[in-house]
Amino acid sequence: MTTTGLLRTISGVGTDRGRGGYSRHGFAKAELELRDWFIAEAGWCGLDVEVDRNSNIWAWWGDPGPDAVVTGSHLDSVPGGGAFDGPLGVVSALAAVEAMRSKGFQPAKPLAVVVFAEEEGGRFGVPCLGSRLLTGSLDPAAALGLTDNSGVTLADAAETAGFDPAAFGRDTEALSRIGCFIELHVEQGRGLIELDAPVGVASSIMAHGRWRFRFTGEGNHAGATPIADRRDPMLPASQLVLAARRAATGGARATVGRLVPNPGGTNVIASTVDVWLDARAENDASTRDLVEKITSAATVAAADEGCAVTVTEESYGDTVIFDPALRDDLSRMLGGVPALPTGAGHDAGVLAAHVPAAMLFVRNPTGVSHAPAEHAEPADCEAGAVALASVLEHLARSS
Ligand code: GLV
Ligand code: MN
Ligand code: MN
Repeated sequence: MTTTGLLRTISGVGTDRGRGGYSRHGFAKAELELRDWFIAEAGWCGLDVEVDRNSNIWAWWGDPGPDAVVTGSHLDSVPGGGAFDGPLGVVSALAAVEAMRSKGFQPAKPLAVVVFAEEEGGRFGVPCLGSRLLTGSLDPAAALGLTDNSGVTLADAAETAGFDPAAFGRDTEALSRIGCFIELHVEQGRGLIELDAPVGVASSIMAHGRWRFRFTGEGNHAGATPIADRRDPMLPASQLVLAARRAATGGARATVGRLVPNPGGTNVIASTVDVWLDARAENDASTRDLVEKITSAATVAAADEGCAVTVTEESYGDTVIFDPALRDDLSRMLGGVPALPTGAGHDAGVLAAHVPAAMLFVRNPTGVSHAPAEHAEPADCEAGAVALASVLEHLARSS
């Protein structure tokens, strides 16, 4: 089946009625349905499926073993996300395997399609959970205690979904099998539009992380509390939002996309407000500097309102420079396709610290991502799958 045909088969799963697009969160109904869908599709492609200790799904062509050529992506989404971020890499991997099989190709190395768990962190806050747990870059005890908006822990959600949370953690065996990892992804920007190219390769990922600011004030009555008597945590929270925009200069990015007042009532002065800051910049020093500036502004604003503030670093990843030799090899093999940087995080970025990793990007004519308008034309999706198949063939053939 074509990539577009495969995407069509899951187009009804996890649709978001509020924003449009898709809400497919880790270990929730839609994502579990997609996991079952993938396992069935992989079976029809003749792949042998196994689920690792961290709930990542692996579909193998050939016996699982060292020096495997691995491709894949994720099936979860941000709230109200697009149809392509994640699923395009998964369906392209399946389409590439089918194309290689139908032309009679026999890989000399094991080849696997992987679906990583909770890449977006849309439910538990920390992105790339599956790959971070597998590589040991996230402490399983800390991960298992993460909670979703309803207070359900990752441990409980995983157990309810049929996984063993006690087994979560660094998986040396799974990691040692990966010879290289290639993730195909819809581009999350306008680079390929401007270059007039359907497919490109990734050069780097910006340093990025998530910080949770908790402002604590005094919950009270919206009508009965004189302004002078208030300690309203929404005030410093709103100052943080403005400070983030002011501090993000010179290519840095700072975003507040999630602000959670407790209890969140129209006629209630909140007791606490959690503000999630997503901050990204070219390197570690500039990202730290950006967060420091925002933290200082938040601290002053909290004191001005008589509120307390605590800051928790929920996740962080330094700048990733993808393996230059692999990147150039892929670009050459694909007729000199362009290499471009990205501000978006990926499982390939997590794996890049451990194994040679690379990414293929497919043009996105809207340039929009993490929103329903994210798009890729069918012809470009097919070009991506063809490119992926030739890359996988090349890598699985050479010794
Ligand atoms: C994931 O797509 C991220 O960059 O947040
Ligand atoms: Mn994403
Ligand atoms: Mn993604």
